Amino acid sequence: MTVADKIESLRRELEQHNYNYYVLSQPSITDFEFDAKLSELQKLEEEHPEFFDPNSPTQRVGSDISDGFNQVAHVYPMLSLGNTYSEGEVQDFYERVRKGLNEDFELVCELKYDGTSISLTYENGSLLRAVTRGDGEKGDDVTANVKTIRSIPLRLNGSFPSKFEIRGEILMPWAVFDELNRERESQEETLFANPRNAASGTLKLQNPAIVATRKLDAYLYYMLGEQLPCEKHYDNLMAARSWGFKVSDATRVCKSLNEVFEFIQYWDTERKNLPVATDGIVIKVNSLLQQKNLGFTAKSPRWAIAYKFQAEKAVTRLNSVSFQVGRTGAVTPVANLDPVQLSGTTVKRASLHNADIIAALDLHIGDMVYVEKGGEIIPKITAVDMDARILVGDKVHFIKNCPECGSELVRFESEAAHYCPNDNACPPQIKGKMEHFVSRKAMNIEGLGSETIALLYENNLLRNVADIYELKIPELSRLERLGSKSAQNIKISCEKSREVPFERVVFALGIRFVGETVAKKLAYAFTNIEALETATYDQLIAVDEIGDRIAQSVIKYFADERNVELITRLKNYGLKMALAEEKLQAAGDALKGMAIVISGTFQHHSRDEYKTIIEKHGGKNTGSVSAKTSFVLAGDNMGPEKMKKAESLGVKLMTESEFLSLIGEKNNDEAHFTGTLF
Ligand code: IVH
Repeated sequence: MTVADKIESLRRELEQHNYNYYVLSQPSITDFEFDAKLSELQKLEEEHPEFFDPNSPTQRVGSDISDGFNQVAHVYPMLSLGNTYSEGEVQDFYERVRKGLNEDFELVCELKYDGTSISLTYENGSLLRAVTRGDGEKGDDVTANVKTIRSIPLRLNGSFPSKFEIRGEILMPWAVFDELNRERESQEETLFANPRNAASGTLKLQNPAIVATRKLDAYLYYMLGEQLPCEKHYDNLMAARSWGFKVSDATRVCKSLNEVFEFIQYWDTERKNLPVATDGIVIKVNSLLQQKNLGFTAKSPRWAIAYKFQAEKAVTRLNSVSFQVGRTGAVTPVANLDPVQLSGTTVKRASLHNADIIAALDLHIGDMVYVEKGGEIIPKITAVDMDARILVGDKVHFIKNCPECGSELVRFESEAAHYCPNDNACPPQIKGKMEHFVSRKAMNIEGLGSETIALLYENNLLRNVADIYELKIPELSRLERLGSKSAQNIKISCEKSREVPFERVVFALGIRFVGETVAKKLAYAFTNIEALETATYDQLIAVDEIGDRIAQSVIKYFADERNVELITRLKNYGLKMALAEEKLQAAGDALKGMAIVISGTFQHHSRDEYKTIIEKHGGKNTGSVSAKTSFVLAGDNMGPEKMKKAESLGVKLMTESEFLSLIGEKNNDEAHFTGTLF
């Protein structure tokens, strides 16, 4: 391979990992591996300046900018830190600083919190703005979301500079993260891989009310401004703490390299007892004057460095590989291992992800494998110790048939996972469909948890979701673990579910790729089950946001006789199979031809609901304010940039209350409108 080819292939690979990490929030390699590849590319680019490319992954710091937030330029760019992985490299940093300063200096050691960074601006003691890192030069204004974080003070106490910036890390505590994933699992939503992704995903939500329920936390670690109170970083942090900021107790002034190593060693184990994720130590020069003298490279300060903890690893024997079938039919390979201690827990199983990963590892039964537990929930196998392979066991192959029902597995183009296509008769899939059907956002039938469903399935009382309506109190209460009271409650809840509106019934059917929002769109577009059942491909893709994948899936669902029979039964049990009368009525043309921007948060409907309402009334929801905007539907905490733009273009701002009157929806807002704009 030529150098040019090597550079190109590294760039492509890194771009893909950047995409997995920043866009999909699903990293597939460790930070360590990513950093190693990035330095390899950096080195090649330095040696061969003739291949310079302004768009190389080495030329950017990674962007988390998304639509829907105003972008704000950082007064001071938000840089990243150089990473080190050994005490030797920390010593090199120390030597560089010593040579650079040529005088005595102190260092401050802090924990490196593993969340998402934030820059907060305070003016006269009040939080003015909160901005994400973005591309380092400009980020998203997420003030409304950040205000929901209880550990971030909105007003300060004591004597503080009239204007300053403070930076820190927004975190989702482990306990909150575990709870959130449990809930997502029960709703069949994809899980967050780690608390970092959960925190950054949460910060980008368009609805601050949901952000508030996510119980984020924040530690602050860096102050900037023209008139900071002290000349030393540590003293400024302590001042910040006294004004009300959360500053970590794990912050130490170190006068020698030895003290730095002691700090590293102590926290390498002690961090496991913390309620939030950390991935290393940050070492900073204490004096601000010395920081200034050392200055910055293009990407990071010369006065600070990160030491990254090694992801915890263990070596153990691979005994077998089993294959689990999930609710959606996705087949996950799981490695069964000799039990081994890792991060304080005994690990016996690890995820192998998919067929490509198994092939890339060249896995054989009996291999000694490396198991890692980074920030991720499930430990994973990262490598095989080839030197330890003396007797070669059977090569691990991905299975061809479903271990639960024997059907031949399929793999969709561009997807890594294998699926069992037998969705109507494969036991875990049937049980999964039932769990989905009864879930809160679907039919909301209480008392039928996954264990009860499994019990009913094993006792042949449930074969498909329609059977739920045939359940009888005596047979239910005869089951072990289920008293007559719970049996009665299940029946009552089933009765109530007949009132669940059509759009949720469509969601409850569990048609692949038809989530809550798509179900709503389908229900409104076709208005009853017969029309949906006979909808053609062209009719389906004509619906807003419905593409080829969903259209194919809907057609496939209704082409299966068993599904049609199931729907007939559900209809006979009295479930709603058409949109309610009042929703059917044409909503009117009040907004015909109008382009409307939605900004801020609302009392009566979510932003998504307002989008639908606008469309139902003949209008169009657009993202940014322009001369073509008819008006802005302005809620609380509307972004200042949008407001400025609207004012300068003479675009009207309409309150929620005015808007509801315009479309003829009753509201008694005057009593509790809390907006500050009007
Ligand atoms: S100082 C100019 N201190 O690590 C240096 N950063 O790669 C400003 N981080 O983007 C950063 N804990 O998100 C600093 N105690 C700490 C930190 C910390 C976590 C994150 C931060 C930054 C990244 C640097």
